[in-house]
Amino acid sequence: MTTGAVRPDVLVIRRIPDPAIERIVERCKLDYQDSPDPIPRDELLARVKGTLGVLVQSSERIDEEFLAAGPELRVVSTYGVGYDHIDVALCTTRGVLVGNTPEVLTEATAELTWALILAAARRLGEGERLIRSREPWHVWPLFMLGVGLNGKTLGVVGFGRIGRSVARRAEAFGRRVLYHTRRRAPSEVEEALGAQYRDLDRLLSESDVVTLHVSLGPQTRHWIDERRLASMKPTAVLVNASRGPVVDEAALVEALKEGRILAAGLDVFEQEPEVHPGLLGLENVVLTPHIGSATVETRTAMGMLAAENLIEGVEGRRPPCLVNPEAWEALTPRDTG
Ligand code: 8YV
Repeated sequence: MTTGAVRPDVLVIRRIPDPAIERIVERCKLDYQDSPDPIPRDELLARVKGTLGVLVQSSERIDEEFLAAGPELRVVSTYGVGYDHIDVALCTTRGVLVGNTPEVLTEATAELTWALILAAARRLGEGERLIRSREPWHVWPLFMLGVGLNGKTLGVVGFGRIGRSVARRAEAFGRRVLYHTRRRAPSEVEEALGAQYRDLDRLLSESDVVTLHVSLGPQTRHWIDERRLASMKPTAVLVNASRGPVVDEAALVEALKEGRILAAGLDVFEQEPEVHPGLLGLENVVLTPHIGSATVETRTAMGMLAAENLIEGVEGRRPPCLVNPEAWEALTPRDTG
């Protein structure tokens, strides 16, 4: 940036890794909510006024009210791959670019998914709680039996970067992999991952572990509902590290309580950070607080990518990870001369 150039005003609404802030401060005039806690909505709407860019996270609604409060906004950069909290269509009509942070969190989220699969299948949470309860215990042949994973069938719902990364790791567990997704994967991908395509209901009835890796939208809201839970094996494990509302949580509570499925592992919840009270009392569910991408390396990489999306957007260039390229096309009509 040339000396004396006016630095664009930007707002970062939550504490993010320092290297990302240092990068932003190099290029922008920063209003920084250097705190783990959210900015109250009305204060947030006041602070977005006059900014050219804002860096947000998945708990903040980017809607008509938000965009109206920031008419000068050029870019909304979200700290995450998911953008169900953003009205992308509205941003596009307003010429606001939307950036996200795919790729950099794929492996961390796949690792957390396997942690949930193993924890739910082998009752790690129960064992942990029993020991910490100081209740007496002793080993005997049928003590705290879980289910083995070797040679069983993994059903991956959603076969994007994270779903494929989870499937790739299945080999280590000698697993058969089934997958369901909107558009069938190329045959070379199926071969490389040893994955067979199934329609959703068939996948649910054939799988011993079902893991969800879909983005949240009208088609996937409550995609796993009472009927679909009933089609799963009573020995099956359900894992969700995508978005809470993909699963009908009340139906899941009933299915777990009545043993219609064996166990679940959940990193996301319908009314996050609220967790359905019915889940809290169940032994056969492992609960983690949306930590899918929560590693030092990954969160730093997410911060740097979100910072680049923000800086490029406010400086009038195309952000590296753009959710709505059509907004960029509209902003930069091709020289048809
Ligand atoms: C983020 C996520 O940590 O990337 C996503 O979509 O859900 C997580 O990786 C979360 O969005 C907080 O920003």
